[in-house]
Amino acid sequence: MALRKTAGYLWNPISLIGLILAVAGTGLIIAFLAMEMITGFDHPYIGLLTYFAFPGMLIFGLLLVPVGAWQVRQRRRSEDEDIPPYPRMDFNDPHKRRLFIFFSLATIIFVLIVSVASILGFHFTESTTFCGELCHTVMEPEHTAWKNSPHAKVKCVECHVGPGAQWFVKAKISGLRQVWAVLAHTYPTPIETPIENLRPARDTCEHCHWPEKFYAGRQKVFYHYAPNKENTPRETNLLINIGGTPKSPNAHGIHWHIGTEVYYIARDRKRLDIPYITVKQKDGTFVEYMSTEKPITKDEIAKSKKRLMDCTDCHNRPTHIYKSPGQEMDEHIVSGLIDPSLPFIKKLGVEILEKPYKTKEEAMTAIGAKLPEYYAKNFPEVAKSKAAGINQAVDQIKDIYSRNFFPEMKVSWNTYPNHIGHFYTPGCFRCHDGKHKTASGKVISKDCNLCHTVIGQKQENIPAGKDVKEFVHPVDIGDEIMKTNCSDCHMAGDEDVPGGGKH
Ligand code: HEC
Ligand code: HEC
Ligand code: HEC
Ligand code: HEC
Ligand code: HEC
Ligand code: HEC
Repeated sequence: MALRKTAGYLWNPISLIGLILAVAGTGLIIAFLAMEMITGFDHPYIGLLTYFAFPGMLIFGLLLVPVGAWQVRQRRRSEDEDIPPYPRMDFNDPHKRRLFIFFSLATIIFVLIVSVASILGFHFTESTTFCGELCHTVMEPEHTAWKNSPHAKVKCVECHVGPGAQWFVKAKISGLRQVWAVLAHTYPTPIETPIENLRPARDTCEHCHWPEKFYAGRQKVFYHYAPNKENTPRETNLLINIGGTPKSPNAHGIHWHIGTEVYYIARDRKRLDIPYITVKQKDGTFVEYMSTEKPITKDEIAKSKKRLMDCTDCHNRPTHIYKSPGQEMDEHIVSGLIDPSLPFIKKLGVEILEKPYKTKEEAMTAIGAKLPEYYAKNFPEVAKSKAAGINQAVDQIKDIYSRNFFPEMKVSWNTYPNHIGHFYTPGCFRCHDGKHKTASGKVISKDCNLCHTVIGQKQENIPAGKDVKEFVHPVDIGDEIMKTNCSDCHMAGDEDVPGGGKH
């Protein structure tokens, strides 16, 4: 009987297990895809199952089927010599015809399901869920910061991979290595930065930002509150001279560095210590600036790698932005989330956040206890009349902690210096400190009006209504304002002191 003989090939334990696996895999893929579509529930582990585990099961099952059939054939060949090695394809036999149609349809459906799963699987590996949430602890700092940044709608791969096949392959290979590092727990804490193989920024950033079209200027108000009982407000209103590249109409300003070839040598991994800068002139010659404080030898210059400045030399934290306790407290007070009528709230919040905590739980308990305790002891009448405000401040400060401190990864707000300004970290003053000179004495300017102009300022030491043209420091520090970098006083600690940083 033809029917029994052909079907008989599949009638063995291995092929049957294979068939069951294949059918179950298919069913599960369809069920999970349907569930995701209907409920909108999206979880990294579900993604792993739907796009990798179940299709794997389906393919493995289908591979088992011929393995079993081959074994049966071997057995039959030895028993019964006249069975041909392959089934005879005679389409006049209605059974063979049906069998053929069945297999053709099954193949088409199989190919369809596997293609849909692999396309979706590809999208899944490109998603922020995959990059940012799957290895939750490892990527928590970067993912959390990204979620609250101007780039929250830009996917990880748009900056970390960018377009083009070559970088795609590189990224998938390094991605495999990273998955292994997570499984084997060999990743560094904190994860080191800058990433050696980060794609040159001009390939990625410029896909969305077009340097020739930068705004000429941008107005920005910096709000602060004094660490006193009244939390006295201080405001600096600056016009930041962004400017375009040398090719654009508004060629002068901060973005002059883009489109001009500026090369530099950094002595440290974080690129904070820059002893040497060289700028290509229009005539093709170079002008070299050298640090007068930490001089560099000719030999060192010849040996060191010179880096061409790009977007990430200033915007190194365009999305993984962590903020100091001081800045967070200031922003929460100005936006009304923390009540400024609570005595010393600015100072207190900063102090509580700066204390080193071993775990997030320890921090949450301490924040929840210390603030109410302080007011109950020092300002009992405030503790009673403003209980709601104090509780809200506790919640906000906990939230600030969870966005800027990640004890599991040994990351806190100042682990990765942000180069965009010069207040908490040297930033622009790595070169613009007035101490980098050419042989003929030309300096890279530290002029306070080179990059921004003061539109206005309010502060306890400025008479109300006075028109301010130059920045007035809240306490008189004499000529230190020009001689010392702001960050030397304003960043108390470094990464070894979690939360270090005074203001
Ligand atoms: C707007 C562009 C951009 C996006 C979007 C982006 N990154 Fe980054 N990322 C960077 C840059 C630039 C650096 C290098 C930082 C430095 O040199 O200080 C970086 C660094 C990192 C690092 C190294 C550690 C660190 O904090 O410096 C990790 C890990 C990382 N990104 C993960 C992610 C993940 C996960 C996502 C998506 C949730 C993501 N990135 C989205 C630009 C981006
Ligand atoms: C996929 C598109 C995309 C890519 C790639 C991208 N950005 Fe953006 N960027 C945006 C969008 C969208 C905004 C928000 C625009 C707005 O707020 O007006 C933004 C905002 C910014 C801002 C202004 C932030 C602020 O404070 O308002 C800066 C600076 C910036 N990006 C720098 C970068 C840098 C540096 C890179 C490369 C590492 C980069 N971007 C890559 C889309 C992108
Ligand atoms: C020399 C340092 C430096 C370099 C290099 C640099 N920027 Fe900027 N950029 C700044 C500063 C400073 C601001 C103003 C920041 C602020 O408002 O706080 C700014 C503002 C911006 C803004 C927001 C304002 C606007 O015009 O939309 C974008 C977007 C931006 N930069 C993108 C880029 C991109 C893309 C590159 C690389 C092609 C780049 N920048 C290179 C320093 C730099
Ligand atoms: C790696 C060194 C380096 C860093 C970092 C750096 N600059 Fe510069 N910058 C230079 C050099 C060199 C010049 C050219 C000096 C000259 O020719 O007088 C310059 C010139 C400028 C100019 C004048 C451009 C013009 O219109 O002629 C501005 C504005 C400026 N920088 C802003 C910034 C800002 C803002 C930052 C930080 C976000 C910054 N720079 C970081 C090296 C640097
Ligand atoms: C090379 C460019 C450059 C020079 C020179 C420079 N600044 Fe700035 N400054 C910046 C940039 C860029 C920011 C904005 C950073 C940001 O957006 O967070 C800034 C921000 C500031 C702020 C606001 C900081 C805050 O968080 O409240 C003050 C105040 C300030 N600068 C004062 C000065 C004074 C005083 C000088 C002269 C000693 C000076 N700057 C010289 C680039 C410069
Ligand atoms: C010699 C040390 C020193 C230097 C250098 C220094 N500061 Fe300060 N700064 C202080 C002290 C001390 C305070 C007062 C603390 C307070 O009352 O908040 C302060 C307060 C401030 C505040 C108010 C902060 C807040 O949260 O209320 C700003 C803004 C500020 N400084 C800007 C700068 C800038 C910009 C520079 C660099 C151009 C700079 N400072 C350089 C010591 C310094």
